[in-house]
Amino acid sequence: MRKIPSLSKFFMMAMLPLAFTHITAHAQASIWDGVYTKDQAARGKLSYSPACAKCHGEIMNGSGQPDQRPSPALAGDMFLFSWNNKPVAALWAYIKTSMPTDNPGILSDQQTSDVIAHMLSLTGIPTGAKPLPSDIGSLAGIMIKRSK
Ligand code: HEC
Repeated sequence: MRKIPSLSKFFMMAMLPLAFTHITAHAQASIWDGVYTKDQAARGKLSYSPACAKCHGEIMNGSGQPDQRPSPALAGDMFLFSWNNKPVAALWAYIKTSMPTDNPGILSDQQTSDVIAHMLSLTGIPTGAKPLPSDIGSLAGIMIKRSK
């Protein structure tokens, strides 16, 4: 086996972080890249309505039932404003561990991603060919952006 001369090896190591930044910058997708499907959003609605709508409202505008405390909108400009520049993974983890407030953790990993697809759909984000994944590693590479 050919040995890499120590000097060029040193340069390779020095360049590695730069190369990595370059790669991740390219690999970074955003919610505008067609990251969920229409069917998935429809499935998400089926999980959302019974578990979340009473507080966040059926159309996610934050107006649920009058006996519930005010809850934020989960779709539209306010949603994009709150989550701008955060990875979908952060939103996913938040929902999975904190929502619904009265019974956190009732959604499965898959249902959590489906509900996010429904949120993106009501926000007017375009659909794509593949559903939103439900593993946090993949979701870490998809950024929420207010605009393309
Ligand atoms: C009992 C009322 C209630 C229910 C049911 C509920 N939420 Fe919430 N949710 C809240 C409140 C109140 C907040 C504001 C944060 C807080 O006070 O904890 C919130 C915050 C959120 C946020 C953060 C919004 C932001 O922009 O800051 C998300 C996302 C969310 N909820 C998703 C869901 C989902 C998905 C469900 C159903 C699985 C759900 N919630 C069910 C009351 C509720």
